[in-house]
Amino acid sequence: MRALVTGVAGFIGSHLAEGLLKLGWEVRAIDSFTDYYSRKIKENNLKNLKENKNFSFQEGNLLELDLKKTLEGIDYLFHLAAQPGVRKSWGKNFGIYIRDNIAVTQRLLEEVKEFPLKKFILASSSSVYGESPLPMREDNVLRPISPYGITKLASEGLGYLYYKAYKMPVITLRYFTVYGPRQRPDMAFHRFIKALLNDKEITIYGDGNQTRDFTYISDAVEATIKAAWSEVTGEIINIGGGAQVTVNETLKILEEITNKKIKIRYIEKQKGDVLHTSANISKAKKLLNYQPKVKLREGLEKEVAWLATAKAQK
Ligand code: NAD
Ligand code: UGA
Repeated sequence: MRALVTGVAGFIGSHLAEGLLKLGWEVRAIDSFTDYYSRKIKENNLKNLKENKNFSFQEGNLLELDLKKTLEGIDYLFHLAAQPGVRKSWGKNFGIYIRDNIAVTQRLLEEVKEFPLKKFILASSSSVYGESPLPMREDNVLRPISPYGITKLASEGLGYLYYKAYKMPVITLRYFTVYGPRQRPDMAFHRFIKALLNDKEITIYGDGNQTRDFTYISDAVEATIKAAWSEVTGEIINIGGGAQVTVNETLKILEEITNKKIKIRYIEKQKGDVLHTSANISKAKKLLNYQPKVKLREGLEKEVAWLATAKAQK
């Protein structure tokens, strides 16, 4: 099997590419090393991959690259490249989100619309729901409350257009707050654990009673590969971790794991942050045979162990 993974130097993309290589797939990959976070971290994410003879990497912006050769003969396209981050998507930054989340998705779909692709797997986000009734079901009304969520919803819409107009085998996955080793440095657990290990203060947005359905990275990767293999197309599917917990509860678990006391500063809730997320994963269970395996404590232990290595903190 031959796959293209976009956004491969990122958190989820690098793990996904490793998962595909383990299955014996040939993986072609693209990343432009956007400056959302440091290039050094992203290059580290690629280290293991680059040692594998079935892996090839092309650096460049998906909007500008000549994709002809890279796309030739691919069976699966995993589109993970994006400008992530809910809270930074306001104001002038919005242009970057439009470019990397909407225009890039449109270009890729255009480029492969006539290809005999087996599946186009599109990474979406729980942020398309906004303040939606819980647990969030795929057929809920979608009212994103962040500019980021708006761009992810638009990218879902593009996937649907090409599915309808060109019968492209598109499947869209709405990931819910993914965590684990190599988590992006702007995300909560990465920041909390780094601060704990260095005896620094952490900042909580709001009162810490907001909840998330945290999804461990290996579960997200497994769901993504299952989505590729499945016969299902034209569907949008939630990928959650199976439990809804408050941010305050996660801090208690982190204190127990590290045997340290967290210094906390509470500040105002951030614009764009949804108060609660919780995924109804019946569709993923039924259509993909997806069942999250990693419980929050176990997953956090793994992220702590990873961040405790000096290299990961640079
Ligand atoms: P990430 O920032 O770690 O990875 C994204 C990668 O895409 C980066 O390495 C970046 O350099 C690359 N990229 C961005 N624009 C590009 C362009 N124009 N050309 C080439 N490369 C480009 O993010 P992540 O957390 O791994 O997220 C991966 C995907 O999953 C994104 O689509 C994100 O919206 C989605 N998602 C993530 C989460 C999560 O909790 N991490 C949750 C829901 C959805
Ligand atoms: C995450 C990802 O960053 C998005 O890319 C993704 O699309 C989204 O999940 C999703 O599920 O769709 P978020 O839930 O904000 O977004 O993830 P975290 O950064 O891990 O934040 C979790 C919670 O902790 C949020 O309520 C946030 O406000 C809070 N937080 C975060 C803090 O209180 N302090 C911090 O320093 C960071």
